[in-house]
Amino acid sequence: MLIDGRHHRTIWVADDGVTVRIIDQTVLPHELRIVDLVDLESAAVAIETMQVRGAPLIGATAAYGVALALREDPSDEGIEAALARLIRTRPTAVNLRWALDDMRRVLANQPRGRRVELAMARAAAICDADVEICRAIGTHGLALIEAVARRKKPGEPVNVLTHCNAGWLATIDRGTATAPVYAAQEKGIPVHVWVDETRPRNQGAALTAFELLHQEVPHTVIADNVGGHLMQHGMVDLCIVGTDRTTRTGDVCNKIGTYLKALAAKDNGVPFYVALPSTTIDWTIEDGIAEVPIEERAAEELTVVSGRTEDGRIERVRITPEGSPAANYAFDVTPARLVSGLITERGVAEASAAGLAALFPPEG
Ligand code: MRU
Repeated sequence: MLIDGRHHRTIWVADDGVTVRIIDQTVLPHELRIVDLVDLESAAVAIETMQVRGAPLIGATAAYGVALALREDPSDEGIEAALARLIRTRPTAVNLRWALDDMRRVLANQPRGRRVELAMARAAAICDADVEICRAIGTHGLALIEAVARRKKPGEPVNVLTHCNAGWLATIDRGTATAPVYAAQEKGIPVHVWVDETRPRNQGAALTAFELLHQEVPHTVIADNVGGHLMQHGMVDLCIVGTDRTTRTGDVCNKIGTYLKALAAKDNGVPFYVALPSTTIDWTIEDGIAEVPIEERAAEELTVVSGRTEDGRIERVRITPEGSPAANYAFDVTPARLVSGLITERGVAEASAAGLAALFPPEG
């Protein structure tokens, strides 16, 4: 998608064919900083510190992390050490485990001399596949937006509410939750996006707003607590959010606060959709609340906010009393019963075991 009119992906390989490049999302929207990943550790740290984040991009970065690790140690032990380092980086997004399992499978029994080349090619293929998946999610989600648009007066926008950043910055390109919005824009359907700020790290205010602004999609940033009020007043036509892990029964784990939006949507009869690539489905679990590991991050993300001062400096300021403890749960689980549908690359599934199995029948 576009930054200042120039197409970017979130991760790519430099012209030297070796260095992996990312956009450092910790300094957006104030600075466009490109960072080089040169070894396993820089890839792992980029995920841990959220220079890259969002479930699909975490998986893709981990895949490149394996390739970078093999440059130093292409042995079987080297592969396992890289996988062990990377799986510890963030616990909730299941795309991480999916990508690492995929890399292990592709590299198994391959000659050492070919492993780097194979790993780089596989990581690139994971990225390319994600772009196509997001495009397909956009096509299927577009039908939902079109259905709302048909009920509107000519020129009246379809109002979509989204939470966190499940846009192109969270994937390789196009995004999951934002893909239907971009598809609608390309078709000339007027859309407007309500962007939840998404405390504590403000992925909505900083990242979703940034990407919609550069893509010239009309949008409005709102405080996290505003969505319910907007829904009560008919100002939201549908919610579309992303997910870090969806159980085989359709429970959706996503950025903290998603559950509260789903409750408000249910109470107000607003459809609540979740957009996801099938790589985000965890087929091994069925009860999201009991079984998805919820990342707890440093309290400082909550107690300290950073922003740009009028003279252009980035400053960090504390907003809570020094002595008050803070808890920083990063994700919550929205039960399937609150989800109107799962927008996947194969179509919109009912949020249930049967709905997902119908679109993704077990192999073999
Ligand atoms: O903690 P983050 O910023 O990695 O959380 C991201 C989200 O919650 C996204 O909604 C999710 O990963 C889906 S990305 C297409």
